[in-house]
Amino acid sequence: MRLYRLPTATKIDDLTFTDAPSPAPGHGQVAVRVRAVSLNYRDLMIATGTYGAKPPRAGLVPCSDGAGEVIAVGDGVSRVKVGDRVAGIFHQKWLGGPFSEAVPASALGGDLDGVLAEEVVLDVDGVVKVPDGLSFEEAATLPCAGVTAWSALFEGPRPVKAGDTVLTLGTGGVSVFAIQFAKAVGARVVSTSSSDEKLGRAKALGTTDGINYKDTPEWGKEVMRVTGGVGADVVVEIGGGSTMGHSITAVRKGGTVAVIGVLTGGEIDPRRLISRAVTLRGVYVGSRDAFEAMNRAIAVNGIKPVIDRVFPFEQAREAYRHLQSGSHFGKVVIRVG
Ligand SMILES: NC(=O)c1ccc[n+]([C@@H]2O[C@H](COP(=O)([O-])OP(=O)(O)OC[C@H]3O[C@@H](n4cnc5c(N)ncnc54)[C@H](OP(=O)(O)O)[C@@H]3O)[C@@H](O)[C@H]2O)c1
Repeated sequence: MRLYRLPTATKIDDLTFTDAPSPAPGHGQVAVRVRAVSLNYRDLMIATGTYGAKPPRAGLVPCSDGAGEVIAVGDGVSRVKVGDRVAGIFHQKWLGGPFSEAVPASALGGDLDGVLAEEVVLDVDGVVKVPDGLSFEEAATLPCAGVTAWSALFEGPRPVKAGDTVLTLGTGGVSVFAIQFAKAVGARVVSTSSSDEKLGRAKALGTTDGINYKDTPEWGKEVMRVTGGVGADVVVEIGGGSTMGHSITAVRKGGTVAVIGVLTGGEIDPRRLISRAVTLRGVYVGSRDAFEAMNRAIAVNGIKPVIDRVFPFEQAREAYRHLQSGSHFGKVVIRVG
């Protein structure tokens, strides 16, 4: 079977297309024929050596997010059967409850080999069945981007409810899911983007107020203005250092900034957090329970993940470059087979 590896990880061209024997599932494991993989910003950072303090293990199979069908099961497997349509969960060992020391490091495409391969073997506990109404390409967008947006909105101490205001930043994978989920629950959605055209597409998905952050550099104040001086109940903060100050301006007193992304660098002023009694809540994707709760909501509400473009398996590097360009809206997907 064919797969990609990263013998080194300094640039996209380090992605190496190669062959390996088909893996066989052991006790408690399943073999999955991967049909589609979606890219996350993290995959770009890992391939270019900018993700963590240490480079990834030489030869790592990249990517956390894939969907496919079960083609073989090992002894002791009853949760799924051959033919089931499944996706791997991001943290293979985080099944439920809070993230803690009890959850071993087990992120696909980082701690463990990932899914940019025609066949993978995963622990049966590390897969979920995907919603029936979704194609493999759509289902492949869920494990990181979908679950992160879901966790930001619904897995904290104050889940978003109808009538709340959610602020999303940019129109990448996480943010577009957040727009869709917030809309489904009846929240008002304020979205920023560098592009008026993308803001138009966000409005078609449920955004009520769009703000171009290039034209309106003080976009936090604009969020305050459009919300009548109240601010957002939750900010889906994917920007990092240079956006955080504006996000804190945009959040309501006592509101929550879900801290997710590191697209930009910069420093924050803690005094404004204190005077507005804002909660900063770190989000690291989510558990299997969160994934399954999200899948139920996707099925009930008929939510379709937004795919910007699908690339063939042989063109994974081009898919990475497309993500890197930032021209996408929603998710970039690689069709594996
Ligand atoms: N903590 C977690 O568990 C977790 C999980 C998933 C992702 N993340 C992080 O979240 C971030 C987004 O990930 P992703 O996969 O959704 O990325 P992505 O699909 O590549 O989205 C990137 C988009 O972000 C927007 N953006 C870029 N710079 C911005 C800025 N200064 N202000 C506002 N928006 C900006 C742009 O949208 P426009 O073109 O519309 O401006 C860009 O297209 C990354 O830092 C990623 O590492 C973290």
